[in-house]
Amino acid sequence: MDFIHVFQPPASPGGPILLLLHGTGGNEHDLVPLAGMLLPGAGVLSPRGKVLERGMPRFFRRLAEGVFDIEDLKLRTAELADFITATAADRGFSTRDVIAVGFSNGANIAGALLLVRPEVLGAAVLFRAMVPLIPEKQPKIPSTPVLISNGKMDPLVSAEETERLAALLRFAGADVTLSWQTSGHDLTERDVITAREWVAQRQAR
Ligand code: MLT
Repeated sequence: MDFIHVFQPPASPGGPILLLLHGTGGNEHDLVPLAGMLLPGAGVLSPRGKVLERGMPRFFRRLAEGVFDIEDLKLRTAELADFITATAADRGFSTRDVIAVGFSNGANIAGALLLVRPEVLGAAVLFRAMVPLIPEKQPKIPSTPVLISNGKMDPLVSAEETERLAALLRFAGADVTLSWQTSGHDLTERDVITAREWVAQRQAR
């Protein structure tokens, strides 16, 4: 159940924990600098995806670009959710204080967590996310705040796909903010600024 990961405690006990979920070919170190830009002083939990696609780490298998192995995705989502719960118990933080920050493949597994195991996240920032799966039973997301930051010119994620994801999460109960960037699949400075402001507003509540 364990993942190779980076853990950094928050500057103050009980502070927020950013769950960093990298994209295909990334690792547990990739998004650590982003954590400091989004919310200085937050703790960090950054696992490395266990699936290898031609040597590139991912969080679940895919059959082709944008076509997911749903059985594997369900299994990996459960495994990641159990890892978050176990780490929270070990390190003494609440899963309510966990803010997922995922990019691409990492955003897709964060979306799956929201749809299948919403209790392990307090909030989520999804950069370049798709619909990961359609859950078998209607999920109940407890008003979890979710930011989707996608690119208008993304060749991998269409506007319709993004709207479908926002609608699915909203219908399940999430409090979704959808932000469009004038960009493709890569992360931009605008994404970081948007996410930083969104996280700060949420923390101030
Ligand atoms: C995925 O496989 O999760 C998406 O195609 C995004 C990617 O990792 O390229």
